[in-house]
Amino acid sequence: MKIIGISSSPNYNGNTATLVREALEEAKRYGAEVEEIYLPNYKLEYCKGCFNCLSKGKCMINDDLESLRKKLYESDGIILGSPSYGLAPNAIMKNFIDRIGLYTVYTSILGDKYIIGISTAGAAGAKKVAKNLTNISGGFFKKGYITGTLGVNVDWNHVNDYPKYIKKAKRLGEKIVNDINSEKKYRIQGIFGKLLNHLVLKRVMKKNILKHKDNKMKAVYDYLNEKDVI
Ligand SMILES: Cc1cc2nc3c(=O)[nH]c(=O)nc-3n(C[C@H](O)[C@H](O)[C@H](O)COP(=O)(O)O)c2cc1C
Repeated sequence: MKIIGISSSPNYNGNTATLVREALEEAKRYGAEVEEIYLPNYKLEYCKGCFNCLSKGKCMINDDLESLRKKLYESDGIILGSPSYGLAPNAIMKNFIDRIGLYTVYTSILGDKYIIGISTAGAAGAKKVAKNLTNISGGFFKKGYITGTLGVNVDWNHVNDYPKYIKKAKRLGEKIVNDINSEKKYRIQGIFGKLLNHLVLKRVMKKNILKHKDNKMKAVYDYLNEKDVI
């Protein structure tokens, strides 16, 4: 079992990275192989909006994205952590999500993964951002499972001053291992979104992918076809 923790704060020992690390360490204690990915150390340019990922299955920018994408796709569990900047994930995380987002959502390639979203804020908004991060698992054809979220407002202190938040991060680390081991299905989770996908979106998306299967959507079609989804 492989769990990766991706954090995007420019503060290596800041609040967000601390909580992601605590969750990862606990996951390791419960038997997972874990890897921490500290996004600021990676070279990631902005998305150019070329749609190469949809047609070729690969980003045309030669930077660290492909290696990160591989780690993400090969993991069983993903912990995403970002500080809250203006009630949203910070730019480093947003850029990462943009870069992996389109192909990932169309193929629903994270549809069998377990996800945790973690965020910290000085005063307000961390819960919303933590939840927002879990959207990464939302594919058109299959959604991932949200093990949990942790959004904490630290009143401009360090999160280490709040043992209860550290404990919550650890508990999430344990829970994601249990979820993966037991293949927990979370059937009720996002039930209305799933219903909408089932009744409307899936059909619309299928039609659109089939229409462009020889060119603009070739890589997406090839992936879904191989998986017998389309
Ligand atoms: C550019 C910027 C924007 C921020 N926006 C907010 C905000 O909207 N609300 C808030 O409560 N805290 C805000 N903060 C504070 C951070 O969210 C908070 O200090 C967080 O815990 C930092 O995490 P880190 O230690 O992982 O870097 C902001 C901080 C920065 C640098």
